[in-house]
Amino acid sequence: MRRAVCPGSFDPVTNGHIDIITRASTLFDEVVVAVGVNKSKKRLFTADERISMLTEACADYDNVRIDSFDGLLTDFCKDHGIHAIVKGLRAVSDFDYELQMAQMNSSLADIETVFVPTSPEYSFLASSLVKEVATFGGDVSSLVPPFVLQRLTERLAEQRDDAV
Ligand code: PNS
Repeated sequence: MRRAVCPGSFDPVTNGHIDIITRASTLFDEVVVAVGVNKSKKRLFTADERISMLTEACADYDNVRIDSFDGLLTDFCKDHGIHAIVKGLRAVSDFDYELQMAQMNSSLADIETVFVPTSPEYSFLASSLVKEVATFGGDVSSLVPPFVLQRLTERLAEQRDDAV
């Protein structure tokens, strides 16, 4: 069984993530989407909320499942019999850091990183930018699934209410 992991923070999942996960699901027998749960990092959504949105986003893919991990990605891979990490590459600017991580991960365990070029329509897309644009009232409806847009809108409204 060729099993791969698509790791990330997914705070929240975007159409760019879904594009990479979809394409990974055609390359591997099973894809595990692994939500990094780094408790020291401040997130807009809790790990459970991020997992819930990913579960909904990936519901149509029989060979994709959602999980979470806290600690080293290579330890998660070892525990789950995974030998491939799939990462999307948006631009050359992603490459330096991703290459460094790929080489570090392969030095830690028997794991290859497979880079998938992001589809051109998503080459500018990042969760952080979606949050920033949405915070200031910009239209991000073409960048995230409708149910993510709804939860994003609700969460930002809650934050505004808490601030007053
Ligand atoms: O969506 P992100 O924030 O780019 O995801 C980053 C993530 C979670 C994939 C990365 O930070 C990660 O793999 N963290 C786990 C800790 C780890 O293994 N660090 C060593 C990387 S070489």
